[in-house]
Amino acid sequence: MQAAQITHYHQTTPTLQTIPIPTPRDHEVLVKIKAASINPIDLKTMAGGLKLLLTYPMPLTIGSDFAGEVVAVGKRVTQFKVGDAVYGRPQKNHIGTFADYIAVATADIALMPRHLTYQEAAAIPLVGLTSYQALHDLMHLTPGQKVLIQGGAGGIGTIAIPLAKRMGAYVATTASRKNFELVTCLGADRAIDYHTEDFAETLTDYDAVFDTRGGTTLEQAFRVVKPGGTVVSVSGLPTAKFAKDYGLPHWKRALFALAAHKLTRLARQTKTRYHFLFMTPSGRQLQVLTDLIEQDAWHPTIDRTFPLSQVDQALAHARGGHARGKIILNIGE
Ligand SMILES: NC(=O)c1ccc[n+]([C@@H]2O[C@H](COP(=O)([O-])OP(=O)(O)OC[C@H]3O[C@@H](n4cnc5c(N)ncnc54)[C@H](OP(=O)(O)O)[C@@H]3O)[C@@H](O)[C@H]2O)c1
Repeated sequence: MQAAQITHYHQTTPTLQTIPIPTPRDHEVLVKIKAASINPIDLKTMAGGLKLLLTYPMPLTIGSDFAGEVVAVGKRVTQFKVGDAVYGRPQKNHIGTFADYIAVATADIALMPRHLTYQEAAAIPLVGLTSYQALHDLMHLTPGQKVLIQGGAGGIGTIAIPLAKRMGAYVATTASRKNFELVTCLGADRAIDYHTEDFAETLTDYDAVFDTRGGTTLEQAFRVVKPGGTVVSVSGLPTAKFAKDYGLPHWKRALFALAAHKLTRLARQTKTRYHFLFMTPSGRQLQVLTDLIEQDAWHPTIDRTFPLSQVDQALAHARGGHARGKIILNIGE
C-alpha cells in the first residue's frame, strides 16, 4: 500500500512509500481509508514540536484521522463488520492515516454519519472530539452561557461553533472579516475581526473561552472570562496537572509548572479555571457526535480536497494558517 512517510523530524515534505498492508490484531479492524484530514498536529509532529509529549519511531506514516470502509476484523471484534463505513482518530502512538489502509482499535472508531461522504466524515474526528471535550467535558456549557471561540473559520472553529450553539450557548468568535459570513452561517452570534478589533476590550463577563491560539491571545482570555469561568486552550502551555494526568515524569511536570506559571497565576487572580486540553481519542464520544450530526443533518465545512499524491501541497496549504474549515486528502477513491 501507499503511505506518506517521514524518515526524520524537521522533514517538511513526506514521501509516498510502498509498505505492507497491516494485519489487524484481536481488537482491531482493518480499514480501507477513503479520506483523511490535515490537522496542524501533523505539521507539528513532522517538525518534532511534540517531542516532549510524544516520540515516534521512524519511518513514520503521518495523518491523524480518517474515514473509510472496514475490510477485515480481528478475532475478538463484535461491534463492527466488513463493509461498515467508519471514521476515527487513532491513538496518538498509532497514527498514520495518510495511507491506503490502517489497522485501528475498535475503541477509537465509530460508524460514520450516514448522510455524509467519506470526505466530509474525515473532516470530523480530531476537531470534533477536541471541540466536544472542550465545550462539554471541561466547560460544561449550559444554555444561555456565553463562550468565545477563537479562530471560528478554522478546522476547530467550524465545528465548535455549531456544537456550542447546539448546547444553547451564546457564541462570539474571532475571524478575518472575509469569513464573517461563514461564521455567522455556522451560528456565531458575534464576530470579531482580530486584525482590527481587540476582543479583550470588547467582550466581558464570558463564562468560557475556547483558545486555539496560545501566546498573548490566551493571556488576554482572562480579561474576558468572569469569576468562576473557564479558559480551555488547545494551543497554550500545558500545566503541571496536565503533565501528571498524562503520566509524564517529575522533571517534565516541573518544567510545565514553570512554563505555565503565568497562566496559572492569571487564573488565580481572576478566580477562573485554566485547562490545557490535549484531546483524547474516543470511539464512544465519536458515536455521540455521529448521533448529533445525523439528528441535525449537519455537514462540515470543507476548504479544499487534494489527492494523496499531492499531500505536500495539502500540508503547504495548511501551513498558510488560513484554512476555511478542513483540508481533506482523498485516498483510494
Ligand atoms: N491540543 C489539542 O488536542 C489540539 C487539537 C486540535 C487542534 N489543536 C491546535 O489548535 C489550533 C487550531 O487548530 P485548527 O485545526 O482550527 O487550525 P486551522 O484550521 O489551521 O486554523 C486556521 C484558522 O485560524 C484562524 N486564525 C489565524 N490567526 C488567527 C488569530 N490571530 N486569531 C484568530 N484566528 C486566527 C484563521 O482565521 P482567518 O482565516 O479568518 O484569519 C483560520 O480560519 C492549532 O494550533 C492546532 O494544533 C490542538
